[in-house]
Amino acid sequence: MEQLEWKISWSDSLSVGVPEIDAEHRKFIARVNELNEAIVGCKSKPVVERLLDLMLMEASHHFWHEQQLLQRWNYPERAAHAAKHAQLTAQLERVMKEFARADVSFTWALKGLYIKQQLVDHLLHEDMKYRDFLQQNAQRNPGERQNARAQTPETV
Ligand SMILES: [Fe+2]
Ligand SMILES: [Fe+2]
Repeated sequence: MEQLEWKISWSDSLSVGVPEIDAEHRKFIARVNELNEAIVGCKSKPVVERLLDLMLMEASHHFWHEQQLLQRWNYPERAAHAAKHAQLTAQLERVMKEFARADVSFTWALKGLYIKQQLVDHLLHEDMKYRDFLQQNAQRNPGERQNARAQTPETV
């Protein structure tokens, strides 16, 4: 996905097939669009900063939730996926500090877009890998797949 493509829409191809994770991903996409609109609409730095803070807070909760489920599903790449979450979180926290220090609107707007893009890329590339794993598992053993879903907590 290119940085200049402002509006992101949910599509079924983004579904991982797990309703509560899809709900969190949808919420994330809505937040991305809100952030894009704020930056494109030249909103003030505190407004953009608040949206980024919210996005990172939600992402950190979502990462934790995803890791719980990957563990439960015995996803073979769960450790690598968790490491990517940790790496992304550290990287984003660093960029957030740079964002806070930046005075020129062009600079902090670019940093905001960078943060957003890192999270979008993770969803599009890394999360889709476990989506594929779940789909393959469901084809091989539909009972087990249902079981995995039945064990998924109803609420976050
Ligand atoms: Fe995710
Ligand atoms: Fe993830």
